[in-house]
Amino acid sequence: PLSYQGIVAMTEEQQAIVETAKAFAAEHVRPFAAQWDRDAHFEPSLVGKLGELGFLGMLLPEEFGGLGLDAKSYLLALEEIAAADASVAVMMSVHNSLPTQMLNTHGTPEQKRRFLTPLAKGELLGAFALSEADAGSDASAIRCQAVRDGNDWIVNGSKAWITSGTHAGVIIAMIRTDTPEARRKSKGISAFILTPDLPGFHVGKKEDKMGMRASPTVTLTFDNMRVPADRMLGAEGMGFIYAMQSLVHGRLGIAAQAIGIARAAFEAAVAYANERKQFGTPIAEFQGVQFKLADMATRITAARAMLHETATAKDAGAEVDAQASMCKLFASETAMWVTTQAIQIFGGYGYVKEYPVEKYFRDAKVTEIYEGTSEVQRIVIGRAVSAGA
Ligand code: CAA
Ligand code: FAD
Repeated sequence: PLSYQGIVAMTEEQQAIVETAKAFAAEHVRPFAAQWDRDAHFEPSLVGKLGELGFLGMLLPEEFGGLGLDAKSYLLALEEIAAADASVAVMMSVHNSLPTQMLNTHGTPEQKRRFLTPLAKGELLGAFALSEADAGSDASAIRCQAVRDGNDWIVNGSKAWITSGTHAGVIIAMIRTDTPEARRKSKGISAFILTPDLPGFHVGKKEDKMGMRASPTVTLTFDNMRVPADRMLGAEGMGFIYAMQSLVHGRLGIAAQAIGIARAAFEAAVAYANERKQFGTPIAEFQGVQFKLADMATRITAARAMLHETATAKDAGAEVDAQASMCKLFASETAMWVTTQAIQIFGGYGYVKEYPVEKYFRDAKVTEIYEGTSEVQRIVIGRAVSAGA
């Protein structure tokens, strides 16, 4: 198979992180992934185990219990976990990229002490609640409403599609704080730190999904939920902007996840093509099959190179909003294409659950949908590249 180590330039520290992630995935994730997929089972013990490794605080400062790593190290680890099970990777990606980043950037010292430190150690799992049933791509059209009542906010409404919503101890939710009479669109939304113990917080319907089945996706309902005013994160009216900023991290994470899925499908296809004989020879000997493998490897390598370059630029302080969208767009479309080719190389055996490639294909699809659909990524990129000088 293509030498993964050989094509990624890594520091010694990054190599050690990749080895740790690989070993963790081999012991705690890969052997169980097919069963978790069949049962739609989320394995809660993974949160503590990932926390012990520091994998739930990879980007956070050491003073809050994080590892203080660079983005590339984190994305390399995420790729390894995704190659074993994309469901575990999305839990890790959302946690590291969205709620913890928002708290780290906008939290008060008290909010960080209370929420960020346990999140960094994996004592609490994080979730991010922006989408609603009627507001997905058009995210500033959310309707969930907070009304001020003395030292509290009273919140009513529902959030849809919340990854890890069943087990999250901290949910950063974007909620309207303007009034129906004076709507301020994206400027009328604030970010709140929610915890499941708040009166009026309910976990609703769990989605029965095509793929990513070991990652619970649920509706959260707020019924006159009383939220203390000190749970507001950052400035009133800035929640949408903060969410958009954190999605830049998030989209890099989803790109790494998509690359992990694609790589797993590619590696399975190479192994199978060398084993499977037709016309008296391993099918890997046929140029028609080799061309597919060549294109799969090329696209994966390109997606990863783009991701690492963007991550490195981001760490150096560059604004990479459009590039992050490019990474997510290209990596997710690569994952969909590569997993389709992998099934083709497996022939009929690719279409049944005895082999893992049909799962990779089902898991890959959602990377083109969540954290902004491919069309939304094209909107972000299109606006950036078509703007006049
Ligand atoms: N950084 C800072 N500010 C930003 C920003 C960014 N990255 N993106 C937008 N803004 C600001 C804009 O500058 C604008 O401010 P002004 O009004 O002062 O100019 C304001 O936010 C509104 O922005 P737009 O006018 O661009 O908003 P829009 O209504 O046209 O929508 C959009 C833009 C790109 C389509 C956006 O709504 C979007 O990204 N939609 C997709 C939502 C999404 O990705 N949801 C993911 C949910 S999380 C998830 O899915 C988790 C998971 O998978 C596991
Ligand atoms: P819609 O916005 O209704 O889009 C439908 C179609 O119309 C898409 O093809 C879209 O691209 C297209 N479209 C819409 N507007 C335009 C336009 N202007 N131009 C061109 N095409 C357009 N959200 C969270 O907040 N937190 C989470 O943790 C989370 N986890 C998720 C996990 C899963 C498994 C899934 C499936 C979703 C999750 N989401 C989460 C929600 C996700 O971000 C949304 O599903 C996504 O943003 C798309 O929104 P929508 O489903 O409402 O589709």
